[in-house]
Amino acid sequence: MCTLALKKIVAPVIFIAVTFTVNAQKSTSQKVDSLLQLMTLAEKTGQMNQYSSDFTATGPVTKDGDKQNQIRKGMIGSFLNVTGAAKTKSLQEIALQSRLKIPLLFGQDVIHGYRTVFPIPLAEAASWDMAAIERSARIAATEVSAAGVHWTFAPMVDIGRDPRWGRVMEGAGEDTYLGSMIATARIKGFQGKGIGNTDAVMATAKHFAAYGAAVGGRDYNSVDMSLRQLHEIYLPPFKAAADAGVATFMNSFNDLNGIPATGNAYLQRDILKNQWKFNGFVVSDWGSVGEMINHGYAKDNYEAAMLAANAGSDMDMESRAYIKHLPQLVKDGKVKMSVVDDAVRRILQKKFELGLFDDPYKFCNEASEKQQWNNAAHLEAEKDMARKSIVLLKNSPLTPKGGKTAAALLPVSKEIKSIALIGPLIKSVKDHLGFWSYDWEDDTARIPSLYDVIKKRLNSDESLFYAKGCEVADTSTAGFAEAIEATKKADVVIMYFGEDRMMTGEAKSKSNIHLPGVQEDLIKAIHATGKPVIVLIGAGRPLIFNWTADNVPAILYTWWLGTKGAEAIADVLFGDYNPSGKLPMSFPRSEGQIPVYYNYYSTGRPAANENDNNYVSAYLDIPNSPKFSFGHGLSYSNFQYSNVSVNTTVPSGNQNLIASINITNNSTFNGEEVVQLYIRDMVGSVVRPVKELKGFQKIFIKAGETKTVNFTITTAQLKFYNDKLQHIWEPGDFEIMIGGSSNNVKTVKIKWNK
Ligand code: GLC
Repeated sequence: MCTLALKKIVAPVIFIAVTFTVNAQKSTSQKVDSLLQLMTLAEKTGQMNQYSSDFTATGPVTKDGDKQNQIRKGMIGSFLNVTGAAKTKSLQEIALQSRLKIPLLFGQDVIHGYRTVFPIPLAEAASWDMAAIERSARIAATEVSAAGVHWTFAPMVDIGRDPRWGRVMEGAGEDTYLGSMIATARIKGFQGKGIGNTDAVMATAKHFAAYGAAVGGRDYNSVDMSLRQLHEIYLPPFKAAADAGVATFMNSFNDLNGIPATGNAYLQRDILKNQWKFNGFVVSDWGSVGEMINHGYAKDNYEAAMLAANAGSDMDMESRAYIKHLPQLVKDGKVKMSVVDDAVRRILQKKFELGLFDDPYKFCNEASEKQQWNNAAHLEAEKDMARKSIVLLKNSPLTPKGGKTAAALLPVSKEIKSIALIGPLIKSVKDHLGFWSYDWEDDTARIPSLYDVIKKRLNSDESLFYAKGCEVADTSTAGFAEAIEATKKADVVIMYFGEDRMMTGEAKSKSNIHLPGVQEDLIKAIHATGKPVIVLIGAGRPLIFNWTADNVPAILYTWWLGTKGAEAIADVLFGDYNPSGKLPMSFPRSEGQIPVYYNYYSTGRPAANENDNNYVSAYLDIPNSPKFSFGHGLSYSNFQYSNVSVNTTVPSGNQNLIASINITNNSTFNGEEVVQLYIRDMVGSVVRPVKELKGFQKIFIKAGETKTVNFTITTAQLKFYNDKLQHIWEPGDFEIMIGGSSNNVKTVKIKWNK
């Protein structure tokens, strides 16, 4: 064989061997640095540029040039809203035609499931079941990674104390401790055994930060708060996310204390990257870089790009400010090359960790996509999560007839032979999916309505009557007569009201959060027939329904429960599942009461009771307490708490305090209970809340059984941010409270010494 031919064979072999050896020896960060050295400034800027596909948009779309050509020129580093093994492969193939063959990142809003839609996050939070929440995210990651996606823009970890803000549906409610636990569970679920596994996706802690505190609950509105409140209430779930190894952060649309989060170096550099040592990257929210012009913080996109890049926003989603202006900003000395290099390094690091340089198509596997498409185990897990998310708000025995108090209406008695189903959600299908969910052609075939499910459960000797009665939001009462007629024929009435799936979510803030339309008028009309009434309320946020809450004996809050939601509701209605959900948010009596939350400060003139309004901090027209409290949720069991105790009433220093309580299930139903631990610091160097959730345990107790629950308390759980922003605990008097709701606890007093 001639020398030349030999060279042709040997040379590539040497090249591959050398490359492989070098690569094999190089750490990921060394590989990143080697690649970075080869990149032009234009190519670096391209990695910091993310576009939405033209297939679907989740924000205001800008139509511009040929994106495929931009990919070829290395001007796009990532897409969102591109899903499907085939679609992502097609764009990845184009990316590999670019000079340096840097693969694209595909991100997607998988907020509560992909093909299998799970309960909305606020509903899942009501389960207080971290394992179930983690499994929900795990399944979502398995399904969407099989569809070619590397990255989900979830979990949303914004604390939400204001139900006028439609995005409370995406979060974990009002509490910092519960929100931190849930953030951790979701990130573990999404990222699984680590990014790079083909069933794992990068998670995103969003929206950084304090987006849920928008003034007036109006989406995208300003946020202004003390740094103490920011660190005490709003940042801990983000810190928990960083500690859980979340791969990315997304900043928020709001300005915080006068500086838009996207241009906020205090948030993104001082806290996130320097103090918390976060080594992932920050993606802007949709167009938020350019929106700093609207904020009046940047005079044009050139300045917006400068402010955002220097403040630590690494990737620009959809504003085009980076791709258009970063190179010039570097040339003008307004943005240092080191700032660009740091951002690009963080982005490339994740692409290497995902394994995209080894195999850019590793997530584009149509066979595994098909395999995950109708996964029965996923649907079963979804139904389980849905059942655990339902909250039994009320289940009072019917008014005693002839002195004998009738049993509570729920679960529906086996003696019932005819049921009337009334309300605009009874035959709903898509509304079970909630906001931030995906529509599939076969949805109506695979998602049963509550009507379908109950009809299937009835025996031949049982009858079902139905009337819609009214629409979700219109004012017509024309359907009332038919609904009343249907009611009169039945032994019991099940009414299903609330919101349609587009009424709560992003850009869905409302000044009026009462049950929409004439729904409560219909409840009153049906209640007036004297028939026993059960009301279900499906919504993405806490709603106001005071008359119903006061007059209807049985109420279930069913949120939006996902693909198998109707089946889960029926399981609870008929006693196949004993409800165990607890509210993750306080339910206000009126919009005028908002924000109402359980961990409030005492004030100098605390109201002594519900009706105290003499020179105290109270309203003249309503009690201070919410209609339903944080942590509230009933069961078919009757859990009785007794004998709260501590191993010592005078712990000192770093000694562990053990608090215990007995819970008896005084009923014939086995059931689960979320036992909650609250602590009050009676006197502090700053005022302290009347109680704070510091622990919880969801336990199963058999009918008639008594269990003892123990909580170990350390000084870590006493810490707070003082007026110097130091995270400290202070010795003194505390109240340890344990119960089944924030407004129903047993208390023991202790003195914690230095
Ligand atoms: C939206 C949302 C954000 C989402 C992003 C991409 O405006 O604020 O949560 O991840 O844009 O869809």
